[in-house]
Amino acid sequence: MWKPTGVSLNSLAPGGKIGVDLADRTLLLVRLGATVHALDGICTHEGGILANGELHGLRIICPEHQANFDVTSGTVLADPDGIEPPTGTIGPLTRYPTRVVGGMVEVDLPYRLAPWTRSRAGGDPGPPATP
Ligand code: FES
Repeated sequence: MWKPTGVSLNSLAPGGKIGVDLADRTLLLVRLGATVHALDGICTHEGGILANGELHGLRIICPEHQANFDVTSGTVLADPDGIEPPTGTIGPLTRYPTRVVGGMVEVDLPYRLAPWTRSRAGGDPGPPATP
């Protein structure tokens, strides 16, 4: 489901980043050239806010313990303390499709499952029916 972020493409300079709270998620938006990448903005190690980290090319560095992630894929490039190659002890960041509509960045977020449906087999049932 496409969601407006409230961020205009022009406000995000190439090489820029910003954190956005959207639909109960904290996202990291990074603009590389004309493309905006959207990822979960919370570090998978211990919850560092990645929008507060340093961006070096494709690499976002967590401000807490310096794990590194590729902003184009969410892949872990370095474990905490910047240890490379990563050992698989922390997970990648989820990445979301983006588009620009009328100059504004939108992110395609999947529906969140209600807690009581998460263990149900058969996948995402979609949004709840409205009365
Ligand atoms: S919280 Fe990000 S590396 Fe520890």
